[in-house]
Amino acid sequence: MAHSEKLTIPDITELGRGGKRLAMVTAYDASSARLADAAGVDIILVGDSAAMTILGHESTLPVSMDEMLMLTRAVTRVVRRALVVADMPFGAYQPGEDEALRNAIRFVKDAGAAAVKLEGAGRTLTRVSAILDAGIPVMGHAGMTPQSASLAGGYKTRGRTAADARRIYDEARALERAGCFAVVLEAIPARVAAHITHALKVPTIGIGAGGACDGQVLVWHDLLGITTGHVPRFVKRYADLNQTILDALKAYIADVRSSAFPDESHAYTMPEEELARFEAQLASGERPTRRM
Ligand code: KIV
Repeated sequence: MAHSEKLTIPDITELGRGGKRLAMVTAYDASSARLADAAGVDIILVGDSAAMTILGHESTLPVSMDEMLMLTRAVTRVVRRALVVADMPFGAYQPGEDEALRNAIRFVKDAGAAAVKLEGAGRTLTRVSAILDAGIPVMGHAGMTPQSASLAGGYKTRGRTAADARRIYDEARALERAGCFAVVLEAIPARVAAHITHALKVPTIGIGAGGACDGQVLVWHDLLGITTGHVPRFVKRYADLNQTILDALKAYIADVRSSAFPDESHAYTMPEEELARFEAQLASGERPTRRM
């Protein structure tokens, strides 16, 4: 497999289960997607976390299909190598298989996504099958599933009792049986994720699920230190862009106020004789003549 080529689902399977840990990150616009791709991430998820990181909502629930399609298009327009997965937003697959299939097709056909991601098992399994029947690859998502978090008391770690761990283990296996090419495991004990990873042939991708998973995913804003407020324990910040951006903006404001910006190096010039002609016109009150 040439690394500059677009990654396919079989490439992801091979990389994940072949011992090379998969690096996945969310991105929601062209500039971040371009950077993620250039850095060499394997999978870019246009996550429904965009509801919070991009659109300023309190949860992932309000983001619409149309909004997700717009963000996915921005990402797929520029990505050359990474596999782009579109997250199906709340309401896009819960009503039934037909709706799920229709919306998955929109992500692939209208927005260029290579695959879609759905949360949960249970009823989600029939939606997964319907989408797969149409030839669209599906990524599963088990453990803490934000779209149904309120049912389980909020964004809390799951699988801390034997019964809950078993439920998640069974759900991950059911997602694999249904045909998912990979399964995200979110906010579950590392030992539970290790057992699931051992039991599955398809790669597991952890977020707050320990180091035994076949890959890891982080939200762009968490990874780069752009998130404000509570940051989950499982996040590792690789930069403090909030501070970097704030410092840059403050320096810009100070330069504008003091007239230090712009200086001559940021300004355009014109030939002296044209300037003299222009100023002479202004001085004589003459109307400027249009020149080609
Ligand atoms: O929407 C998202 O960002 C996600 C990841 C946390 C896996 O689903």
